[in-house]
Amino acid sequence: MIGISGATGAIYAIRLLERCRASGCETHLIASSAGVLNVHHELGLDRKALERLADHAYSPADVGAAIASGSFATHAMVVAPCSMKTLAAVAHGLSDNLMTRAADVTLKERRRLVLMVRETPFNLAHLRNMTAVTEMGGIIFPPLPAFYLRPQSIDELINDTVERVLALIGVEAASPKSWTGL
Ligand SMILES: Cc1cc2nc3c(=O)[nH]c(=O)nc-3n(C[C@H](O)[C@H](O)[C@H](O)COP(=O)(O)O)c2cc1C
Repeated sequence: MIGISGATGAIYAIRLLERCRASGCETHLIASSAGVLNVHHELGLDRKALERLADHAYSPADVGAAIASGSFATHAMVVAPCSMKTLAAVAHGLSDNLMTRAADVTLKERRRLVLMVRETPFNLAHLRNMTAVTEMGGIIFPPLPAFYLRPQSIDELINDTVERVLALIGVEAASPKSWTGL
């Protein structure tokens, strides 16, 4: 499952969807209204164009969708990018829309949840919410560039991050670069 919330960094979601499709991983997409707004602002894609990149797409209001239940087998969930609002909802088990419900289910079923949180600087609520999600077994993965890999372009920098996320959720085709020493 892939969630897109209204933080900056929509390209991470797009690249994840493209890589999942290329690797034969089935994707279930939930994008919040603010997420779609940012996808459009940053990349010029509307909801329809965005949803075409996924195998299945849902409205955040559709809390009756199959993915709202733990009985629906999923492998993992990534929220890319994850806003502080969605982080707060997940940290507090709010389940107030399909994205936060799906994240809640992912945690309760002890499946892998990766939140690509994006804000700077952080206030204490953000930090506490990240701690709470970590305590529940979720993974806080801010999309921070690994400059030691010496990326030659923004594209490469994004791909490096996305490959690491794919490896974290166990996608076999993931090819994160590894450090081989100086
Ligand atoms: C252009 C733009 C950039 C934003 N960037 C961030 C961000 O990086 N992090 C964040 O937490 N919120 C950011 N926001 C604010 C969220 O979109 C807002 O809090 C929204 O209510 C989040 O809702 P959602 O979590 O349901 O998507 C941004 C908003 C806009 C319009």
